[in-house]
Amino acid sequence: MKDMVIGVNKGKIIFIEDETCLSELMSEYNIPPGNVRHLDKRQFLMPGMVDTHIHAPQYVFAGSNMDLQLRQWLSTYTLPTEAKMKDLDFANDVCDKVVNRTLKNGTTTACYYATMYRNASDVLCKVIGKSIYPSCVDLCAASNKQTQTDKTVYRIHTDFVIFLFQNPLLTPIITPRSIRTCSEELIKSLGQLNQTYRLPVQTHILETRSDIIPGCQNHLDVWDKHGLLTNRTILGHCIYLSDNELDLLKLRGCGIAHCPNSNITLRSGLLDVRHVLNMGCKIGLGTDVAGGYSSSILDALRSACQISKTLAIQTDGGSYKALTYQALFRLATLGGSEVLGLEATTGSFVVGKDFDAILVDPLVADSPFDVFSTDTFSDVLQKFLFLGDDRNMIDVFVSGKRVCGNNKMENPRQPIVQKYRTQADIYHIEHRILRYHFAPLNT
Ligand code: GUN
Ligand code: FE
Repeated sequence: MKDMVIGVNKGKIIFIEDETCLSELMSEYNIPPGNVRHLDKRQFLMPGMVDTHIHAPQYVFAGSNMDLQLRQWLSTYTLPTEAKMKDLDFANDVCDKVVNRTLKNGTTTACYYATMYRNASDVLCKVIGKSIYPSCVDLCAASNKQTQTDKTVYRIHTDFVIFLFQNPLLTPIITPRSIRTCSEELIKSLGQLNQTYRLPVQTHILETRSDIIPGCQNHLDVWDKHGLLTNRTILGHCIYLSDNELDLLKLRGCGIAHCPNSNITLRSGLLDVRHVLNMGCKIGLGTDVAGGYSSSILDALRSACQISKTLAIQTDGGSYKALTYQALFRLATLGGSEVLGLEATTGSFVVGKDFDAILVDPLVADSPFDVFSTDTFSDVLQKFLFLGDDRNMIDVFVSGKRVCGNNKMENPRQPIVQKYRTQADIYHIEHRILRYHFAPLNT
């Protein structure tokens, strides 16, 4: 939308009108001139991005531990790290950092997996509540059948759900981690819980080839049988679903959390998003931190693009239509909100929705990309999507409230570091790098 004004009151979008109506709107809504913000040349607003799948405790090791595939990665790095969340000071530090980082990256809605430790999940909710951050928060990721009986899990669930209903920007979510880590009795008890509360549900489905059960006609059956496939169910990965399974997923209105960075990093597989879209299923992007090493949805968009182009290369005859930047933009915003069942609240600019937004400035002094006089708006948008980062996000708003941003007025920029970097410093750094790289080339 070009040359428009967007009005926000109490966190909600109250009008989107042509710029020529501005003075009329100001008197109609009693808006003082000081409350009107004019965008500078080349600046634009976009909806805040939606992360449909992120593991808060795994942020500790995001960007590292990328050598193993899923099963070994879980037992070697992930579960031991998650167990450290029992230390609530540590949990507080981790939650603070992951929530701040995702907001800084322009994610205004996130669907978290926490851990199976109730107190650590409380910490995550408190940190998010403090940041005024709408999200689905994990109820219980039961990862160990032996140590938690269904009864205690059920008890934890109910009081946690009630606790979370107190904040309108938080939604509890039933989180049976995966079919491998939950007994059928547990799944059944979660289904019963859902009959009472009608909550969103999330799990990992057919993420790797080894998740395929030989002879199994429908991997969604067990979830369906216990009433856990609804229009608020978010299924992570779904790389190896058959068309019949995709049909059921569509019939029940479930959404797919596509986590391309994770799928490549853990070498799980390449989801055919074009096919999923052709089948008419809801789909959005997830970082899957820390299976995915980046907590940025812009990174997820880029990884999704590369997977789509890889599939196009692999398809004979050039008939495969790789995802366009428009389709990728939709996955990162409205697609994600549909997957979370929050499309009436966030994901696009529509009157009545929350003002979850990013003010993008392609011309910031430290911008990671360059703009030329010949660039159209579409050129600049694409440059931002593929080359931009938090330096271009001068304001991030959640429900009308500015939560962070690289705004020059509020964060005076530090002097350019290079000016202070002497030759000696550089030598010193290089020397250290050389020492740490002293390993055989084939490792
Ligand atoms: N399957 C079960 N747990 C996990 C997890 O933490 N990450 C990923 N990517 N897959 C899982
Ligand atoms: Fe995951």
